Amino acid sequence: MLLDLDGRGPIYQQVSRAIESALRNGRLAAGGRLPSTRDLAQELKISRNTARAAYDNLAAAGIVTGRPGSGSFAATAPAKAPPSPRAALLAPQSAFSRRAREIPDFSIGYMHRGLRFNLQYGEPLTDQLLPDLWRRELARAAAYTSLGYPVAQGLLDLREQIARYLARRRGIATTADDVIIVSGTQQALSLATRVLLDPGDSAVIEDPGYFGACWAVHAHGARIVPVPVDRHGLVTDGLPARRPGLIYTTPSHQFPLGFVMSKRRRDELLRYARRLDTWILEDDYDVEVSFDAPPSLPLRAADTDDRVIHIGTFSKILAPSLRLAYLVAPRSLRSDFIAAKRLCDMGCSAIEQAALAHFLASGGFQHHLRRVTRALRARRNALIAGLSQQTGHHFSFDAPTAGMHLVAMLSPRSTLDLDELIRAAAKAGVGLYPLAPHYLAKKGPPGLLLGYAGMAPAEIDRACRILGTCVQAGVQASVQAGVPATTSR
Ligand SMILES: Cc1ncc(COP(=O)(O)O)c(C=O)c1O
Repeated sequence: MLLDLDGRGPIYQQVSRAIESALRNGRLAAGGRLPSTRDLAQELKISRNTARAAYDNLAAAGIVTGRPGSGSFAATAPAKAPPSPRAALLAPQSAFSRRAREIPDFSIGYMHRGLRFNLQYGEPLTDQLLPDLWRRELARAAAYTSLGYPVAQGLLDLREQIARYLARRRGIATTADDVIIVSGTQQALSLATRVLLDPGDSAVIEDPGYFGACWAVHAHGARIVPVPVDRHGLVTDGLPARRPGLIYTTPSHQFPLGFVMSKRRRDELLRYARRLDTWILEDDYDVEVSFDAPPSLPLRAADTDDRVIHIGTFSKILAPSLRLAYLVAPRSLRSDFIAAKRLCDMGCSAIEQAALAHFLASGGFQHHLRRVTRALRARRNALIAGLSQQTGHHFSFDAPTAGMHLVAMLSPRSTLDLDELIRAAAKAGVGLYPLAPHYLAKKGPPGLLLGYAGMAPAEIDRACRILGTCVQAGVQASVQAGVPATTSR
């Protein structure tokens, strides 16, 4: 414990005053354990008797309590000093801070936390085997991984495994040299803005689109150019005539609508990028799990011009807490991306990378993928059945062909008030999430984005029954209020 002694009077009094002041300003927590008298004496280079006298002094004043056999603890802390007024009044110290203050906390998984049935998009699959498998991989990796700084680009073993995985499952011919390990898609997006954009430049983002991409672009000081999507993916006719610095897209599974970009649109997008000499940032999320047919090939597989920066993540198929993802960089940009990564954090944790490399190489990942696909299919089916039975004609949706969420649109003929339904469901213990916040340029149609990974089929069924009750109550309320069937909401 580092204490600032004031040099006034006997040492034991100086030590007690310093501990009291550390409690007052919050450096020591009320109720927290204090160092033993032996540790305190060693750290402050005082005798053990002096340390004991300091604790006795604090105990006499009721500031420290001793528990036989378990040491000394801070009692309730004296009233905290008021926070410094500077913290509240300070203006942003940089343009970046100013923009960052405009961005809400967009962490996934916090809105309806604590609700019994939370249909939160982005929740990982609750897989009982994974913690045990991962614990073994980590222990193994910890035993042989170098404790020195990792290579900023990522561990070679992991990059090789990812290059093989991409060739086999995504049809991308690449080598470990082109792969860069990053801590999540979010870091890949951040690095891409640094490497490709200057503040004031523009970036195309799908509308509706991924909030993480929007905020990365905004924080960097670049301008978001929303381009609409339809059932065929990004509407290429809506691309700007002036060169954007990058185009962020989710061709294999549009976020949030779930559509796959058509071959025609892909060809048009690649042609556009070549003609305007710009870059495509392909977010290949949610493709590991596909239910009815193999996932479509990524843009990067058809990119003969080396213009596509391909991003993949382990957040969906393993766990978002891992913070491991990768990007495949065009040759001409590779060293810029590696330099940006090095500047950012000098590389991802080597033990986690080594554990993942072995998980991929040993076949454990393949088994996991098969298990997760089975579990997710059962969850998806439970949600489809539950919604169809319980919400009748009020919502329409396509069965998801991949991934972990479903988009249900409120039918134009429904009299339900969606916000009211979300509130009523939350009161009844079901977390629902509107689609509207994912629209950029115009107000989105009323709909729900329902994540099904985080709950077992029986829980999903239960949640849908509760939802059915809320829908019935909502319909009755609208009848009483005299809302006509085609009211625009
Ligand atoms: C479109 C999209 N891409 C990527 C991700 C994963 O992001 P990360 O790898 O930073 O966890 C998400 C998470 O929900 C997402 O919705």
